[in-house]
Amino acid sequence: MKSISLIQFLIEARRNGQLNAELSLLIEVVARACKRIAVATGKGALGDVLGGAGTDNVQGEHQKKLDVISNEILLEANAWGGHLAACASEEMEDPQPIPDAYPKGNHLLLFDPLDGSSNIDINVSVGTIFSVLRCPDDIQQVETHHFLQPGVEQLAAGYVLYGPRTLLVLTFGHGTHEFTLDREIGSFILTRRDIRIPAETAEFAINMSNQRHWQAPMKRYIDEVLEGVEGPRGKDFNMRWVAAMVADVHRILTRGGVFYYPLDAKNQAQGGKLRLLYEANPMAFLVEQAGGAATDGHQRIMELQPTGLHQRVPVFLGSRDEIELVTRYHQQDLPAA
Ligand code: F6P
Repeated sequence: MKSISLIQFLIEARRNGQLNAELSLLIEVVARACKRIAVATGKGALGDVLGGAGTDNVQGEHQKKLDVISNEILLEANAWGGHLAACASEEMEDPQPIPDAYPKGNHLLLFDPLDGSSNIDINVSVGTIFSVLRCPDDIQQVETHHFLQPGVEQLAAGYVLYGPRTLLVLTFGHGTHEFTLDREIGSFILTRRDIRIPAETAEFAINMSNQRHWQAPMKRYIDEVLEGVEGPRGKDFNMRWVAAMVADVHRILTRGGVFYYPLDAKNQAQGGKLRLLYEANPMAFLVEQAGGAATDGHQRIMELQPTGLHQRVPVFLGSRDEIELVTRYHQQDLPAA
């Protein structure tokens, strides 16, 4: 079989009018930066990259050395190419404008440079998540509110999974596609075109240790699932939890399933656990483009109007039938208006 590199794939898409040259360059630059992150994560103790950085990020979470390194790699790679107006990251309170020394482009890039970073030190999969928005026209100075666009406005989104293989999974609104890094030649090669998530599944991912903190609809849904063949669902379910959203979503894009991070008594004050702009929205875009669904328990994630750069939301995504059911349980639980 003739192999197709990421660059060939993007050129083909440009010829078909699916994306423009600037967006294609942006995707290539992010992919190139992620190859460097893959090298850094792969070195581990040999590169002195394990452990804490001794700092906290804007969310008050302890930063790992690799969180900081990955953030710097992405910022540096994207600064000079002329394709971006500004970047925003989980690791930085405010957006970072493109330095005056470089030309500016029409795009905004958001990323979680190293998702699931509690997995780094134990040598389990981690990933980078990114989302691309259009920068509104005639902006002199990009500000936070320019990033507060609903997910339906995303031009592209993707993740890179650093596991036994380094994989890039990408969408620009024409399907969801997977590329595997060929480490010998240093290129991402197309390995799955137009990924499809089956509508039905018997596999779910959730942090069960939070069960007693969940709200009633979530408890009801999981109780029924756990009853298996003897319960109302009439089938046995299996559970998986990698604790890195990228890895859990990748499993869903490979064999179906669902991923839940619901509202609970611990995260309620913050509105949820996962970040809307650089976790929930890009994953929702990838999942929807593969035929799955993504809601916050009540409505489509990609239609939520963001109110803050680091806003958190509940997340329910994956195989369509299950997401519809769990969303219905939440909707039915709404107090009467
Ligand atoms: O970014 C948040 C994150 O690390 C996700 O990647 C992951 O799905 C989740 O948090 C893990 O949550 P918990 O700590 O509850 O297992």
